[in-house]
Amino acid sequence: MSTPRTSTSSARFAQFKLVLLGESAVGKSSLVHRFAKDQFDDFRESTIGAAFLTQTVQVDANTTVKFEIWDTAGQERYKSLAPMYYRNANCAVVVYDITQESSLTRAKAWVKELQHQANEDIIIALAGNKLDLASERKVETATAEAYAKEAGLLFYETSAKTGEGVQEIFTAIAKKLPVEQVVNRTRVPPKGVDLSRPTKASSTCNC
Ligand code: GTP
Ligand code: MG
Repeated sequence: MSTPRTSTSSARFAQFKLVLLGESAVGKSSLVHRFAKDQFDDFRESTIGAAFLTQTVQVDANTTVKFEIWDTAGQERYKSLAPMYYRNANCAVVVYDITQESSLTRAKAWVKELQHQANEDIIIALAGNKLDLASERKVETATAEAYAKEAGLLFYETSAKTGEGVQEIFTAIAKKLPVEQVVNRTRVPPKGVDLSRPTKASSTCNC
């Protein structure tokens, strides 16, 4: 569940859980570091288990979305941990490497798993990363785009190295999240709710 709150009558703030999935070495951690810290390392260590980061996106003058990001480990031995991280996720970025065809096959398997096992209304974006290595490209843009359209996914090609497409993919997700719906729901509590009891809206962790 997202945990929205409003600071003034016009400003809206909502936080959402986002999970990154994809084969090892496609650049999940690098994408998150570019997005959250505007940094890139040529030699990044493979993730162990998962890493947690946060970053906010200004969707419009009055709306801020905060992402609570779970960057999962792509190595096969961590595969069984993934449901722990995509459970209750509001959105997901499934990453492949445009220079590795097998990574798109793996990405498709993650999309299928999310569509069957994760939240029914999860927003999924497909990221074709390492766009700066376009001269070594093995997956054509049109091929991935057609698949994304058919599967109902947002689609962007990105480069964690140059930053191309990175802000864009997270902003596109933020714009699709149900901020309005969630804020309205907290402003008008349903009949019969005991307002003296603490609500879920005050919690910050969805892990
Ligand atoms: P796991 O943690 O093992 O699942 O891998 P990961 O998907 O998090 O990949 P990671 O971000 O660790 O990146 C793997 C390697 O690819 C690192 O050496 C990165 O520097 C490199 N890399 C990541 N993104 C890009 C990119 O956009 N362009 C280029 N040229 N290299 C990249
Ligand atoms: Mg990683």
